[in-house]
Amino acid sequence: MINYTEKIPNNVDLGRDRVLQRALEHWQPAYMGWWYDMGPNESHNYEVYLRTAISVEPDGWAQFGYVKMPEYRWGIFLQPRDEKREVNFGIHKGQPTWQEVPGEYRSTLRRVIVTQGDTEPASVEQQRMLGASCPSMYDLRNIFQVNVEEGRHLWAMVYLLHRYFGRDGREEAESLLARRSGDADNPRILGAFNEPTPDWLAFYMFTFFTDRDGKFQLCALAESGFDPLARTCRFMLTEEAHHMFVGETGVGRIIQRTCEVMKENKVEDPSDVRALGVIDLPTIQKYLNFHYSVTLDLYGSDVSSNAANYYTSGLKGRFRETKLEDDHVLTDAEYPVSEVVGGKIVTKNVAALTALNERLRDDYIDEIADGVSRWQRVIDNAGIPFRLTLPHKGFHRDIGNFAGQHISPDGEVLSEEAWKNHESEWLPSSKDYTYVQSLMSGRVVEPGKFANWIAPPARGINNQPLNFEYVRFN
Ligand SMILES: [Fe+2]
Ligand SMILES: [Fe+2]
Repeated sequence: MINYTEKIPNNVDLGRDRVLQRALEHWQPAYMGWWYDMGPNESHNYEVYLRTAISVEPDGWAQFGYVKMPEYRWGIFLQPRDEKREVNFGIHKGQPTWQEVPGEYRSTLRRVIVTQGDTEPASVEQQRMLGASCPSMYDLRNIFQVNVEEGRHLWAMVYLLHRYFGRDGREEAESLLARRSGDADNPRILGAFNEPTPDWLAFYMFTFFTDRDGKFQLCALAESGFDPLARTCRFMLTEEAHHMFVGETGVGRIIQRTCEVMKENKVEDPSDVRALGVIDLPTIQKYLNFHYSVTLDLYGSDVSSNAANYYTSGLKGRFRETKLEDDHVLTDAEYPVSEVVGGKIVTKNVAALTALNERLRDDYIDEIADGVSRWQRVIDNAGIPFRLTLPHKGFHRDIGNFAGQHISPDGEVLSEEAWKNHESEWLPSSKDYTYVQSLMSGRVVEPGKFANWIAPPARGINNQPLNFEYVRFN
């Protein structure tokens, strides 16, 4: 159970470690300062129907109620320890997991934790203005739920930094509150977390694509031999599932509404579709292309000695490591990666250890493809002849073997000029953004009402009706 009587709710017996408790209580007001400055704009007095974890068990989400977001009980929740757990991969395979940081891996682990931690406040910053253009009270509540939980994920990483990394860790925890998404002088660490999230279609795409990168990174870290990291990430994953749900259903509802309007009015031409105040399918495809490609970059270089070291050292595993049937050491294994040679994309085998980023990216792509096919079903059910496709994985990439190349969504290697000629067909143009934002000029907050460009969800949150008052403005 989680102890909510303490200033910092936790299930790690924080009260027993006075020094740590004081350090975290010192960080807490700085965190609140960040939330007031960079959390959802003008939201501090709203009462929001939020879920709060009451335990880390699978049914621990039972508590829903109205909360002012600054009063949300951010805290430290780890999955319970399994005394028998061993390191499951790499050169330490079969040894007991580490309860303290092994000295030789200290700086590597710190970097991994800081990089993960940095994404959490970044997404809150990216989304902070969207409340002003929400399509419904239901959606407003959902974005706030995502935001408070990303704040909690920051707490999760900061706990590890404070507890296990001494003074360096405390300094890193302060820097996590100092960087700003998109800031020229002090940006967030990873590219996708410095891109703007200018509208709700971008928000849903972000939570579908980029929060899912979060899921895969957390899954890999949940395999870690450093047990506190593994246990932290396991609980974060239960929160992440809701974020991806918001993204998948959000895009799905936009597609559904567009298809309804196209059928009712018997129109197919994108400009006719736009004239009816919904988002045309080619624009949705372009947003998909953008968010997919910038998220693929987050997995890093296709061939990476860092990735090999993380694995060999037992710090970061593969997706579902313990379910895989091989030696979990990978010294002799190979894995295919692609690159451009002489104007053509070729695939060759490399040492599997060096290709672990690519492998995690491929696991991610499989899951993404399933989600896209569920969106496709909405279009097919409406009888509309339009296909949503995932672009080639080399399309619009900035990191890895395809960086600097010009790959079409079909996987053709193009000249820069040829690519530029088609760019506005493949990625959202400023005109597309302007159009999408023109639909979202104000917020829709009457209970049960939804903006014209999105269908209502199938059901409400926590079995509440769709016209439930999910947010009380005060
Ligand atoms: Fe997160
Ligand atoms: Fe998330």
